[in-house]
Amino acid sequence: MELTDPARKELASISSALLSWFYENHRDLPWRNDRTPYSTWISEAMLQQTRVTTVLDYYPRFLKRFPDPSSLAKASEDEVLKLWEGLGYYSRARNLKRGAEYICEHFGGELPSDPDLLIRIPGIGPYMQGAIASLAYDIAIPAVDGNCIRIYCRLHSLPLVASEQSTYKEIYQRVEEDLPKDAPGDFNEALMDLGSLICTPRSPKCEACPLHENCSAYLLGKQEDFPAKKEKKETPTEDHTILKIYVGNKIIVKKRPASGLLAGLYELVDIPGILTDSEVRAFLKEHFSGIDRDTDIRPIGKSRHVFSHLKWNMLGYEVHLPASFEKEAASLGDAVSPKKYESLAFASAIRAYR
Ligand code: ADE
Repeated sequence: MELTDPARKELASISSALLSWFYENHRDLPWRNDRTPYSTWISEAMLQQTRVTTVLDYYPRFLKRFPDPSSLAKASEDEVLKLWEGLGYYSRARNLKRGAEYICEHFGGELPSDPDLLIRIPGIGPYMQGAIASLAYDIAIPAVDGNCIRIYCRLHSLPLVASEQSTYKEIYQRVEEDLPKDAPGDFNEALMDLGSLICTPRSPKCEACPLHENCSAYLLGKQEDFPAKKEKKETPTEDHTILKIYVGNKIIVKKRPASGLLAGLYELVDIPGILTDSEVRAFLKEHFSGIDRDTDIRPIGKSRHVFSHLKWNMLGYEVHLPASFEKEAASLGDAVSPKKYESLAFASAIRAYR
């Protein structure tokens, strides 16, 4: 790298300080051993919006069951979702399967190294394109995520809002200039670790940061002011009543539609609004002829779930009906055996009632 002009010198010192820190302090994570383009794709998909500690459990199980794009492409969506159960953001799992089908159809079952081809794969966006190309193929291309944006906004005290597209472009260009051509994957991964371990959203550990001498926000004592905060809109809230209805020993379940929120996952009977037990009884009367005052309806508690853009307030009831009601249950969903019930992938939102 040229070291003649002062800007290049500072730049070289940032990337070499970051890399030296990474080689000393990097986390020993399973997807960093025996890395392949496929394993990088799977781990990066799991790590989007999800903590490393959560992914540690899921990653080896997923890779064992689906060791390559071909096994994933051939699996049923239900099985893929079951292995993903609890990780959230289920569109990632559906996209992995669609992506695997595309890879088998267009690239002979192997992830290509060319970033322009990688980005054509369903579910692979610019971040994942950069992560796979740089980590698995050593191609010099940025992998800009929220961590990276936070680090760069602080380094250069840029009062940008992290979620804006213009911020992404600005940071992408800066990372592209800083990327060492001989270790682009390590550089990108060093930024990931720095963002997770040191340059955290709150209370960053600046004294331990290899870049603090170059960090404008640190020198100003205003680390937490960068990136700029976006004005928060109130998250919309929905009320739901969840019924776990037993008919004999079977349980009524329903598969959610193939697109939209929690697509393809199973759920219990879900009624809009928070219903009292007499309202639940009235609802059941519309579906079953034998409901009376003695029908066993028990409240099983309140619960809340926060999606990225929506909150659910829930109240649950358990309902016990005799096996003879099974035929009428069809208007609410499928009555499944306890064994089948255990094998289905449910939305984590209703975990409290599962
Ligand atoms: N977050 C996203 N990708 C990561 C990776 N490869 N290692 C650690 N944390 C990550």
